[in-house]
Amino acid sequence: MRAGVLELAGYSVTDLTETFATPSFLLDVADLRARAARFRDAFAAAFGRPVAVYYASKAFSSTAVLRWVHAEGLRVDCATGGELATALAAGIPGEDIGLHGNNKSAGEIATAIGAGVGRIVIDSLPEIELVARVAADLRASDVPVMVRVTTGIHAGGHEFIATAHEDQKFGLSLATGAARAALDAIAASPGLRLVGLHSHIGSQIMGSGGFAEAARAVLGLRAEAEAAGIEVPEIDLGGGYGIAYLPGEADLDPAVVAADLAGAVRAECAALGASVPEISIEPGRSIVGPAMVTVYTVGTVKPVTTEDGSQRLYVSVDGGMSDNIRTILYDASYTAMLANRVGGAETVRARVVGKHCESGDIVVEEVQLPADIRAGDLLAVPATGAYGRSLASNYNLVPRPGVVALGDGEPREIVRRETVADLLALDLG
Ligand code: LLP
Repeated sequence: MRAGVLELAGYSVTDLTETFATPSFLLDVADLRARAARFRDAFAAAFGRPVAVYYASKAFSSTAVLRWVHAEGLRVDCATGGELATALAAGIPGEDIGLHGNNKSAGEIATAIGAGVGRIVIDSLPEIELVARVAADLRASDVPVMVRVTTGIHAGGHEFIATAHEDQKFGLSLATGAARAALDAIAASPGLRLVGLHSHIGSQIMGSGGFAEAARAVLGLRAEAEAAGIEVPEIDLGGGYGIAYLPGEADLDPAVVAADLAGAVRAECAALGASVPEISIEPGRSIVGPAMVTVYTVGTVKPVTTEDGSQRLYVSVDGGMSDNIRTILYDASYTAMLANRVGGAETVRARVVGKHCESGDIVVEEVQLPADIRAGDLLAVPATGAYGRSLASNYNLVPRPGVVALGDGEPREIVRRETVADLLALDLG
């Protein structure tokens, strides 16, 4: 190993970028799999029986990744027809797939029913009729559905990623009785079978409190439904478990949150005189986020005097908001490190920016970097696996980076780097 060269899964990033170029997402497969296993084991241990863990594939979806998490015993949550098609292409059995979405098309629902998915999560009252109609057209019976409940609990890092307060598009409100009405409507639909209630309160959540509060609210609805003769076998507590992005931060520990949730669920069930339901969860970010690093090549380096007279070094990289929109969209914080050599001892206040024609094209807002950073250096940005490649765009007709898997045989691209030719292929003149 050369001094100062970052190694990932035993490979030096200088070697990797010679083969795969930059920018690239580098995935540590063993880390991904270990995270999947940790959620599976922590929740099973806390609840004293298996808990179905659905990997929320919106965080990052590719057939290889879905196969790896499935091999660890996880199921796959899909939010669109595209994610569903990827899960099916990966060979995930239908019964191990769940379908979400606030605006599913009849076609998406038909594909899901045809594949025999384990659950379709109902997100509105009209959708109950739609799923029932599609099921009838397909002569399918016993179609498993869940009801997504809006519990009114506000949690999550940024307003755009909080999902259970009232004034947003997801789910059926507990407060207005819409969730309760959905249960009656499902009970009255012969082709549908209620498998449970679902709660997802938001993303990048750093404590157990909101999850526990939501669980209690959903269990209350379950008790009400069961008193009216409607069986609710399962409760899904959603995803949203936060991860570390900066030095000094720590992931929300699955063992801690699982223990807190198991405690809250048991206590609430005891108070309600109810049995403990089957439990499932839907983590995305916490499985794949920390398992990837983006590597960029540095280009233009420009010292700038800010409005308060201080200095800031603008370090431009060969990607930007097209491969990481989270910084500017959610005010998300990342760090960056020199990855190809030992930098000079002196550090400067720097901002890592991309190559797009937009001043908000910022990858890392604030970071100390070696003062001698220069064109041709490699910069690594950790924890980009979740909602990095999956939110990537082609703004300025920049091709999206590939994803390179490390630790499953020889390093290889599991998602090919796009080329300008790929983009031009869509241009029909
Ligand atoms: N289940 C449902 C129903 C969801 O809507 C989500 C995320 C998850 C599970 C997984 O949540 P996670 O464990 O990954 O936090 N683009 C945003 C995050 C949007 C999350 C959308 N739903 C970001 O980059 O922060």
